[in-house]
Amino acid sequence: MYKLLVKPLLFLIRPEKAHHITTYLLRTMFRIPGIPYMMRKMWVVQDIRLERELWGIKFPNPVGLAAGFDKDALFFQEMAALGFGFVEIGTLTPKAQPGNPQPRLFRLPADEALINRMGFNNGGVEDAIPRLKKKGNIIVGGNIGKNKVTPNDEAVSDYTTCFHALYPYVDYFVVNVSSPNTPNLRELQEKEPLKALLEELVRLNSQKEKKRPILLKIAPDLTNEQLNDIVEIVEESGIDGIIATNTTISREGLQTPIEAVREIGAGGLSGKPVKSRSTEVIRYLHERSGGKFPIIGVGGIHSADDAIEKLEAGAALVQLYTGFIYEGPDLIKRINKKLLKS
Ligand code: FNR
Repeated sequence: MYKLLVKPLLFLIRPEKAHHITTYLLRTMFRIPGIPYMMRKMWVVQDIRLERELWGIKFPNPVGLAAGFDKDALFFQEMAALGFGFVEIGTLTPKAQPGNPQPRLFRLPADEALINRMGFNNGGVEDAIPRLKKKGNIIVGGNIGKNKVTPNDEAVSDYTTCFHALYPYVDYFVVNVSSPNTPNLRELQEKEPLKALLEELVRLNSQKEKKRPILLKIAPDLTNEQLNDIVEIVEESGIDGIIATNTTISREGLQTPIEAVREIGAGGLSGKPVKSRSTEVIRYLHERSGGKFPIIGVGGIHSADDAIEKLEAGAALVQLYTGFIYEGPDLIKRINKKLLKS
């Protein structure tokens, strides 16, 4: 139904507008008594064999919604009712910011891909808290970043502000230093600034009564040498895992005509074209570290087999974004059903 009816209509509308319309309708419907129950009945695959326990958290199934879709924690309940086992909100920054000028989200249907340069548009971390207070038993990750106006040498304080604000309400944290859409953000992936940032968050975490897992989200564009550094940094800083990967700045191997791609301009590419590189990064990190820390695999999952490929490469859990746009909620169900058969 999604691919036959809903998607063709949505793809007539500008992508960002389509996102707002769909999520608005979903939120409105969800308020009608009986609808949440019906949605869960229709979409959630409940089976003890799908449960995964990591960092002391019980995930009802290993398929999560990747960051960026519900930046402001507006509809994570609805996403859980569509079958996701966990939802990552954010990237949130300390202060609200508008992000880059529109248009900033583009479809590449020939590649089943998206290019975005959203630039961390969000309502600020405090704005999300009242909604997170009502999260119930849904597993929610808090993906945190820095404001565009904050210089890199003051970035640590933006991350710690978000950490303190979200600490009571989220189940795990993700430190995002890998978005290509905030100027110079990816410089924070360099060894020394990254170590300093993560060590400070780990220190603050150890002062809390209950530690929350802290994960680092990395770009698929890192070299093997940089990935070796990442393995070292995870071990030295004591963080709890990696999310691999974010979007890529590469434009290699696209079917979409080069002029059209050029016209879109800067941004992170997601969806099918990022799939193999993202799996390669997962496999490399898993092998290099000897499986010492959990990896959440994300990038180009558009089928159950794509998800299984990531799990076999060493991911403990997976996440989707672009595949969810192209395939609809049925994809979550298909992955979980196939996992039950394998
Ligand atoms: C993203 N992604 C993202 N990641 C993140 O850590 N913080 C963010 O705010 C966003 N925002 C965002 C917006 C849009 C429009 C897209 C398409 C993606 C990256 C996302 O979580 C994921 O890592 C990549 O998109 C790769 O996975 P998919 O999309 O190929 O499944």
